[in-house]
Amino acid sequence: MDVLFLLYVVSATFAGLSEGAGVLPADSLNAAVGRTVTFTTTLTPQENQFVAWTFDFNNIITTNTTSETTAPQYEGRITLDRFTGSLQLRNVSLTDSGEYRVSIISPGGGFYTGQTRLDVYVPVSNVRVTANSSDLIEFNSSVSLSCSSSGSSLSFLWLNSSSEVTASDRVQLTDGGAILTIISVTRYDQGPFRCRVFNPVSNVTSEPVNLSISFGPDNTNLKPSPSQEYYVKGSNISLSCSAVSRPAAQFQWFLNGDLLTARGPELRLMNIQMNQSGNYSCQAFNNITMRTQTSQPYVVSVLERISGASVKSSTNQPVDGNSVNLTCEAAGSVFTRQWMKDGSDLILTDNMMLYNEGRVLSFQPLKKKDSGEYSCKISNPVSSDEAKYVMVVNCK
Ligand SMILES: *[C@@H]1O[C@H](CO)[C@@H](O)[C@H](O)[C@H]1NC(C)=O
Ligand SMILES: *[C@@H]1O[C@H](CO)[C@@H](O)[C@H](O)[C@H]1NC(C)=O
Ligand SMILES: *[C@@H]1O[C@H](CO)[C@@H](O)[C@H](O)[C@H]1NC(C)=O
Ligand SMILES: *[C@@H]1O[C@H](CO)[C@@H](O)[C@H](O)[C@H]1NC(C)=O
Ligand SMILES: *[C@@H]1O[C@H](CO)[C@@H](O)[C@H](O)[C@H]1NC(C)=O
Ligand SMILES: *[C@@H]1O[C@H](CO)[C@@H](O)[C@H](O)[C@H]1NC(C)=O
Ligand SMILES: *[C@@H]1O[C@H](CO)[C@@H](O)[C@H](O)[C@H]1NC(C)=O
Ligand SMILES: *[C@@H]1O[C@H](CO)[C@@H](O)[C@H](O)[C@H]1NC(C)=O
Ligand SMILES: *[C@@H]1O[C@H](CO)[C@@H](O)[C@H](O)[C@H]1NC(C)=O
Ligand SMILES: *[C@@H]1O[C@H](CO)[C@@H](O)[C@H](O)[C@H]1NC(C)=O
Ligand SMILES: *[C@@H]1O[C@H](CO)[C@@H](O)[C@H](O)[C@H]1NC(C)=O
Ligand SMILES: *[C@@H]1O[C@H](CO)[C@@H](O)[C@H](O)[C@H]1NC(C)=O
Repeated sequence: MDVLFLLYVVSATFAGLSEGAGVLPADSLNAAVGRTVTFTTTLTPQENQFVAWTFDFNNIITTNTTSETTAPQYEGRITLDRFTGSLQLRNVSLTDSGEYRVSIISPGGGFYTGQTRLDVYVPVSNVRVTANSSDLIEFNSSVSLSCSSSGSSLSFLWLNSSSEVTASDRVQLTDGGAILTIISVTRYDQGPFRCRVFNPVSNVTSEPVNLSISFGPDNTNLKPSPSQEYYVKGSNISLSCSAVSRPAAQFQWFLNGDLLTARGPELRLMNIQMNQSGNYSCQAFNNITMRTQTSQPYVVSVLERISGASVKSSTNQPVDGNSVNLTCEAAGSVFTRQWMKDGSDLILTDNMMLYNEGRVLSFQPLKKKDSGEYSCKISNPVSSDEAKYVMVVNCK
């Protein structure tokens, strides 16, 4: 019987076996187009073997002790090691993908067969990311990032900074993963985004692409310097406004809701007057998002120092039984008046009354025991002043 015929029969018989069977250890091999692949058998070298290689049941090469037959399309592209049966295949192309089988008969009569798979791929190249829009507004814009590339059997993966992008409500991966769509972008979606394209023979990552996303203003905050509950008339106050915004926000100022002419992030109040007391607020504006945000108001209370405190009597001649008023006055922003008698807090007795928020201490009728040193202390949070009056009650 013709040995070559026998080899074909053996080869066909073993076609049903699992991959990687016999003398070819690898289940499958991957190669890039143009590369050289070697199918290495596990046999120890032996002379005078009969070897047959097929590709998807078509002959590649057959040998017997005296001759060698190569299919025309493999001329110059293969080298057979006749001692081991290993086959080298050069300059592989996509059409070389498929099943490779080898059958070997040794002179001693041993049969060996092997089977494996070759997959040829075009390596990945020209990986580029393009965004369909470059001016994005937080919460308003959606964006599509497309990954273009060359190669065969491509898989795609997106990187956001260094972590892999996963699909979610907001993030869609379509077209086999080549298109990343972000619905309603947020400020945290600026990337950089990169697209990684790979197949079993290569792996290429694009240049990073940053998205420019406008957002804000948020956290609009008014910071006074110095920060005080009350300011003395004539002080200088600086109010600074900040906001989280891209591009940077523009600022306007309001006093009790009325727009001030001053612009910019700092409002300087020099030599402040009483009539500048009120609620100050700033408003941040982003001219791309067209959004505004107003700060919490800051209350500026301007007080005048207390000065020139005095206590005056309604009469120069206090007489037992008459009515007398002591009036306590001062310049400045009066908050409290405290009356004392002979160095102790004044205790109002039946014949005493305070009027006019403590301004007037009224005796009706005046008694002899009301003689003494009266003092009045006028205070506000920034100052105080005190005046004394000695009253000597005369008999009628
Ligand atoms: C070897 O193969 C050639 C060509 O197919 C054939 O003519 C020859 O008879 C074969 N020799 C043996 C020993 O099988
Ligand atoms: C490799 O094969 C391709 C066709 O698949 C052919 O065009 C090219 O010339 C070959 N290259 C070499 C170096 O033989
Ligand atoms: C970009 O793609 C997104 C999502 O498909 C779409 O909503 C948006 O309108 C597109 N933008 C432009 C400028 O075409
Ligand atoms: C990108 O990463 C940032 C920070 O980890 C995350 O907040 C954002 O949601 C991510 N965006 C997308 C589209 O994956
Ligand atoms: C691609 O290459 C990167 C590093 O360059 C590696 O981290 C990643 O695992 C590779 N991916 C694949 C599928 O080979
Ligand atoms: C993209 O953003 C990163 C930081 O997130 C920065 O380092 C890089 O310079 C930016 N690239 C471009 C082209 O703007
Ligand atoms: C307020 O600022 C002006 C100008 O810088 C300065 O001349 C003045 O002394 C300051 N007033 C106070 C109370 O610090
Ligand atoms: C505040 O008072 C000053 C005088 O103290 C006056 O010149 C100024 O016009 C007043 N401003 C307002 C807004 O009433
Ligand atoms: C300032 O705002 C406070 C509340 O924040 C309010 O009670 C007060 O009446 C306001 N003053 C003016 C002058 O609008
Ligand atoms: C937004 O304001 C900036 C200044 O803060 C200015 O340079 C820019 O031209 C403005 N853009 C638009 C669209 O108005
Ligand atoms: C953002 O979306 C809101 C609601 O759809 C719309 O009213 C607003 O005009 C949009 N802003 C910009 C700057 O396009
Ligand atoms: C003292 O003050 C009270 C309250 O203002 C007033 O009713 C009374 O007439 C005054 N008495 C004298 C003697 O001025």
